[in-house]
Amino acid sequence: MSKTPFASKLTGKATLVLGNKSIELPVIRGSVGPDVIDIRKLYAEGNAFTYDPGFVSTASCESAITYVDGDEGVLLYRGYPIEQLAEHSDFIEVCYLLLHGELPSADKLKSFRSQITRHTMVHEQISQFFRGFRRDAHPMAVMCGVVGALSAFYHDSTDINDPQQRTIASHRMIAKMPTIAAMAYKYSVGQPFIYPRNELNYSENFLRMCFAVPAEDYKVNPVLARALDRIFILHADHEQNASTSTVRLAGSSGANPFACIAAGIACLWGPAHGGANEAALRMLEEIGDVKRVPEYVARAKDKSSGFRLMGFGHRVYKNYDPRAKVMQQTCHEVLDELGIRNDPLLQVAMELEHVALNDQYFIEKKLYPNIDFYAGITLKALGFPTSMFTALFALARTVGWIAQWAEMIEDPSQKIGRPRQLYVGAPHREYIALHKR
Ligand code: CMC
Repeated sequence: MSKTPFASKLTGKATLVLGNKSIELPVIRGSVGPDVIDIRKLYAEGNAFTYDPGFVSTASCESAITYVDGDEGVLLYRGYPIEQLAEHSDFIEVCYLLLHGELPSADKLKSFRSQITRHTMVHEQISQFFRGFRRDAHPMAVMCGVVGALSAFYHDSTDINDPQQRTIASHRMIAKMPTIAAMAYKYSVGQPFIYPRNELNYSENFLRMCFAVPAEDYKVNPVLARALDRIFILHADHEQNASTSTVRLAGSSGANPFACIAAGIACLWGPAHGGANEAALRMLEEIGDVKRVPEYVARAKDKSSGFRLMGFGHRVYKNYDPRAKVMQQTCHEVLDELGIRNDPLLQVAMELEHVALNDQYFIEKKLYPNIDFYAGITLKALGFPTSMFTALFALARTVGWIAQWAEMIEDPSQKIGRPRQLYVGAPHREYIALHKR
C-alpha cells in the first residue's frame, strides 16, 4: 500500500485558556483543507476532554486517500477529481489508485486486474452458508453475515501484522464482494447462483452473475456495464464517513479485515447513510406525480412532520454533491439506452430538485441533492430491486474501506480508538438491599 509524500506540517500554536491555566496546542496543516488543532495532550495537561457528538469538528486520523471540500463541492481520490475519474478511468484502475496512491502503469494495471479477476470465486462451502438464511432476508442482512463469515473461510489472510496477508485479504474482498452481492440477490429470487467468468470485466461480471440464468445465454449490454462501473467509481470512497470510521474503529483493536468490513457494511445499512438510495426511491414512488411535489417539499420544511427529503442534504457538502451531477448524467444515459422516455420517477425527481433548489428553506440550509438522489432511479432501471441498492453501495465502498483500514494499520501513530464522554449519570452511590427499596 502507499506512503504519502505530502507530510503534515506544524504551522503554529493555539492557546486554550482553561480556568487559570493556559495550554498551548500545536496547529497542524495538511496538504489542503482547514488546519487542525492537535488536542492529544489536552487531557494530560488540562484535565479536560473535548465534546463533539457526531464528530462535527473532529479529525479522527491523518489520511492521504480522499479529500472532500464540502463548500466547493469537490471530491478528490488521491488528488484526482471524481468527474475525471468517472469519465476516463474504470473501477479497477480506481481501486488500484485508492490502494496504492498512484495511477498504475499498463503492466501494473494488467497484473492487478488479473489478481482481482482470479479471486472472484468464493469457497464452495459459502453457498451452503447462504442456504441458512430465509429467502426473504434483506440482502444487507445477508451481506453482514456472509462477509463477517469470510474470516472463517480464509484463515490464511487474517494476520494483520503480515503485509502479504493484508494484501491478499484486500484483493479477496474487492474480488468476492460482487460474487457475494449477486448470490444474495439470486438467493432472494430463488434462482441458482451464477459463477463468475474471467473473460468479463468487473461490472460486466456482476451484471451477469445477477441477471443470467443457466437456461439461456446472457449478453451484457456494454452501455449499462459502463454506467454501473461509473456508479461503482462514484461510491468507492468518501473519507471518514460513518461506515469508514466504523471500519477504522473496528480495525483499531486489531480485528481481522473481514470482520472490519462486515462492521462497515452494518453501519452503511442505516437510512441516514447508505440506506438513503433505497429511501430516496421509495420517496419518489410515494410522491408518484409531479403535482404532489409542492406538498412533499412543504412536509420536508415542517419540523413536526418528521419527514426529510431523502437524497437531499449532506454532513459535509454544503454545495451540489459532485457525485450527484455525474449520477444524474449516468441516469439519463441508462434511461436513454433502455428506451425509457418520460419516466415518471425521473420527472418527479427533476421537479423536486428544481423546486427545492429554488426554495428559501433549502437555500438557507444549503441542502442540495446528494449521490443517492438519482442513484435509485438508475439502479432500478438497470434491473436491481430496491433492496439491493445498499448492497451495491457496499460492494463499491469495500475498496475505500480497505484502503482506509490498510492506511490505519500502517500508521505508526495508530492507537485503539477509544472516545471519552461527558458523563451525566448518577455519581457514586451505595447499593441498597432489595428489601429496603
Ligand atoms: N430534508 C429536510 N430538511 C433537512 C434535510 C432534508 N433532507 N437534511 C437536513 N435538513 C435540515 C435539518 O432539519 C436541520 O434543520 P435545523 O438546522 O433547522 O434543525 C438542518 O437541515 C441541518 O440538518 P442536520 O440533520 O443537522 O445535518 P447533518 O449534517 O447532521 O445530516 C444528513 C446530514 C445527510 C443525515 C441529512 O441531511 C439527512 O438526513 N438527509 C436525508 C438522508 C440522506 O439523503 N442521506 C444520504 C447522505 S449522502 C450518502 C452517504 O454519504 O451515505
